[in-house]
Amino acid sequence: MTVTRDHIRAGFEKLPRFKLSHLNTPLEPLDRLRQTLIDEGVSVPNRMLVKRDDVTGLAFGGNKGRHFEFEIAHILEGGFDTVININHYHSNQARFIAAGCAKAGLKYHIVSIDMVTAPITGNLLLCKLMGAEIHRAPADYGRQVAEKIFARVEAEGGKPYILPDDPFVDLMGTIGFLETGLELEEQFENAGVEGPVRMWGLTGRSIAGLRLYAKNRGLDWRATAVQYSPGSIENFQQVTADRGTQVAEMFDLEVGLDGSDLIVLDAYRGPAYGEPDEGVIEAILKVGKAEGLILDPNYTGKSMSGLIGELREGRIDPDETICFIHSGGLPQLFAHADKFVD
Ligand SMILES: Cc1ncc(COP(=O)(O)O)c(C=O)c1O
Repeated sequence: MTVTRDHIRAGFEKLPRFKLSHLNTPLEPLDRLRQTLIDEGVSVPNRMLVKRDDVTGLAFGGNKGRHFEFEIAHILEGGFDTVININHYHSNQARFIAAGCAKAGLKYHIVSIDMVTAPITGNLLLCKLMGAEIHRAPADYGRQVAEKIFARVEAEGGKPYILPDDPFVDLMGTIGFLETGLELEEQFENAGVEGPVRMWGLTGRSIAGLRLYAKNRGLDWRATAVQYSPGSIENFQQVTADRGTQVAEMFDLEVGLDGSDLIVLDAYRGPAYGEPDEGVIEAILKVGKAEGLILDPNYTGKSMSGLIGELREGRIDPDETICFIHSGGLPQLFAHADKFVD
């Protein structure tokens, strides 16, 4: 027994949504990258593809463009008029909320909690252009600053919402990518993809949605995520499985997720979140030169460094089709420009 596509589609029809993205995103071959690796003597699977979620459109695109269609609708349903967010200097999520709030006519405050003296470029610059009020504070004070803004907005008669306090924020990414499953299944059929597929990239929310889709549709899609920041893999797998199971309940699916559904690699995360290592720089240059495809240093560059690394080590089943998920993150490339100077 498998869950039908119509059943999954029906689940989406019931869910409030605020349109932010151009969907479907393209699925494209990575033939020249594949050939570059073959020329190096690396053994590669027959097919390598990229799902172009960097071209969802609004505010330079990315996987969060899918997530926030549900989140913005959820905020509007709650009757809020002001969104307060706390996130890192490099945060792409901060940018997408700015875009969603601008389109929905919501006021937006971003408390940016690290690298407080780093230049306003990349995502923070875009937040500013989209009308966000930026508050820069060291991580230990981020919460305090957010609560002060909350109290002030309330005192002025507004209805504020602190985004990280709402558990729905962690589910909407998995929901967004459950829908990507519908898109990809059809795209694989049209492209004649046969046999096992390995989804590559992303972290806990999005890739969980793809794995959840595959399990419920009886498809042999496997999932590898590369860690972007420190943290215990077991904990990460458990949190992801819990989210998957909650979404399975929401959509009345047959199976949820468990810890073993997601392979997580920690060898490619670099020195810290937002800090690429040499493998990332090499991966970005290689993919740019081979495909004219731009990756970012914080997320997709780390994922690609992991894919190239695992291929070189011969640890990928040659029968699998690789589906690399390009999740965007491009504005932040410019905050790392110095790392590409010879
Ligand atoms: C460009 C990019 N890729 C991947 C991720 C991780 O995605 P997920 O929310 O699915 O864990 C993020 C999250 O910030 C991101 O900005």
